[in-house]
Amino acid sequence: MIFKRIQEDIDAIFERDPAARSRFEVWLCYSGLHALIVYRIAHGFWRREWFLIARFISQVGRLFTGVEIHPGATIGRRLVIDHGHGLVIGETSEIGENVTLYHGVTLGGIAPSVDSSRQKHTKRHPTLENDVIVGSGAQILGPIVIGNGARVGANAVVTKDVPAGVTATGVPAHVVMPKDRKQAGQFWAYGTPSDGCPDPILASVDGLRGQVSLLMERIEELEGRLQEQAEAAPDTQTDEADGEMRRSVIVGGGKRR
Ligand SMILES: CC(C)(COP(=O)(O)OP(=O)(O)OC[C@H]1O[C@@H](n2cnc3c(N)ncnc32)[C@H](O)[C@@H]1OP(=O)(O)O)[C@@H](O)C(=O)NCCC(=O)NCCS
Repeated sequence: MIFKRIQEDIDAIFERDPAARSRFEVWLCYSGLHALIVYRIAHGFWRREWFLIARFISQVGRLFTGVEIHPGATIGRRLVIDHGHGLVIGETSEIGENVTLYHGVTLGGIAPSVDSSRQKHTKRHPTLENDVIVGSGAQILGPIVIGNGARVGANAVVTKDVPAGVTATGVPAHVVMPKDRKQAGQFWAYGTPSDGCPDPILASVDGLRGQVSLLMERIEELEGRLQEQAEAAPDTQTDEADGEMRRSVIVGGGKRR
């Protein structure tokens, strides 16, 4: 069982790291893989409630790889830890399948040192669903959920849920549109839907866009009415009708708010 898992982990690195030349090289040289093997052994002890030996094995692994994975974390199949050094995965983290993490990533608690006795045995680390990619140096903090297929940019600081299929970057992280919108798993013909979108900037841009299209509709309607009046009325009355219409635009526009 454990050998099958390790084989899968090696295959996953080979598939996802363009620098990997052979599976033997991956086996020999990838400290992310070594850290994962140590984790899988330590996690076995943790599940049997041999907590101290599990922690000890985990620390030995950290000494050699620079990757600290708490043995209590739950990690799915085919995780790739590329480069690895400085990566920390906290005790109550949960990681789905086919996840990729680069060096310097933290899956941590928000403020572990504050009132820490109350935080014991509570979920305080993130959950990464399947196919998530987390760039180097990203800090994902708190019991938040990074949805299926989401990407977290290098050096981002994430403290809120990231919906499935989107990219989050920056400090604090906010959702950005991928250049290739099909990457988000869905093609949005007119930009990002605001439903469930946690980014206030995108939400307000979406609101403004709605208001602009309402105003455009109203202008077109009034222009049509002006045109009709101009065609129907004699020349002498046009100026008067135009003035009346302008007043109606101003008053009508004001009432719409
Ligand atoms: C986030 C990332 C995965 C790209 O995701 P993507 O969905 O393909 O996003 P895009 O490349 O289309 O970029 C979308 C926008 O986010 C910006 N962006 C991308 N990565 C960013 C980052 N880390 N920080 C800030 N902004 C970033 C892009 O400039 C672009 O902005 P624009 O629309 O104003 O031009 C990638 O940029 C990244 O950070 N990968 C980490 C890889 C890594 O750690 N490599 C180390 C290997 S040693």
